[in-house]
Amino acid sequence: MATYLITGVSRGIGYGLLSNLSSNPDNTVIGLARNQVATKEKVARELGARSNVHILQADMSDYNSILRAAQETEKITGGRLDYIIANAGVASPAEGFANIGELAKDPKVFNEAFAYTMSTNVIGNVYLFTSLMPLVLKGKAKKIIAISSASADIELQRKYDLELSPTYSASKAALNAIVAKFSAQYAKDGVLAMSICPGMVATQALECETDEQRQKFEGFLQNLKRYAPHFTGPKTIESAAKDLLAVIEKSSVENGDGGSL
Ligand SMILES: NC(=O)c1ccc[n+]([C@@H]2O[C@H](COP(=O)([O-])OP(=O)(O)OC[C@H]3O[C@@H](n4cnc5c(N)ncnc54)[C@H](OP(=O)(O)O)[C@@H]3O)[C@@H](O)[C@H]2O)c1
Repeated sequence: MATYLITGVSRGIGYGLLSNLSSNPDNTVIGLARNQVATKEKVARELGARSNVHILQADMSDYNSILRAAQETEKITGGRLDYIIANAGVASPAEGFANIGELAKDPKVFNEAFAYTMSTNVIGNVYLFTSLMPLVLKGKAKKIIAISSASADIELQRKYDLELSPTYSASKAALNAIVAKFSAQYAKDGVLAMSICPGMVATQALECETDEQRQKFEGFLQNLKRYAPHFTGPKTIESAAKDLLAVIEKSSVENGDGGSL
């Protein structure tokens, strides 16, 4: 019997993880969502009545809501937690298909994009891990996982000219550094803190609205194919969830995975 807390379960990969994990009635799955009511309704509609699922409200850019969710989690689990999967994440709407030169032309636009991605993708997770650490230390598995991105891999950006989403990439690189700090501090207590890239997954995050965006995204895919010629396209949410859970299960402090991407 294991207890999981996943952020960003309203849709996409977070919802896929919630759906997969809660199909085992022995698991207790706590899902955090900005819109608790709509997410509860979606879970009831699509997954039916699963008494092992608990949907709590939290906005990753709102410290107090994260703290409240941690307190409610403590009550649900009896004060312990095995896994945190910090999945909620954003790219700034201003930059999804812009490069650094385009985005930084206007300091107001750049500052807002940077603050937006850092707040949700980095700072929110610092508070999430900190407020839940007492529960994780009492848990059995002791794994805190951040869903990061290959966009944070500097070698990949550099070698394959991956121009798009600059503050998203920077925020995920900062997230990896923060996860390494949690590992540095807590590995001696048996806590695995690790970042994982899910690969490219067909979610709302990849949707293009205009022909120009589609063209830029196609150029990005062509550059990625230089790195991975076998790449045929994004994977499904279901297979991404399965792959992520397999990596989470096999990774450990003992194997030297702490703090890695
Ligand atoms: N899809 C990919 O190819 C890919 C590749 C690499 C990494 N990733 C990473 O994988 C994770 C999930 O991505 P996805 O593709 O599933 O994205 P998605 O479909 O856009 O879903 C994002 C999730 O994050 C939630 N979220 C956003 N801002 C939030 C906030 N301030 N507070 C709480 N929840 C918030 C969203 O909730 P709302 O419904 O309330 O907006 C939603 O549940 C992200 O960290 C992303 O960076 C994805």
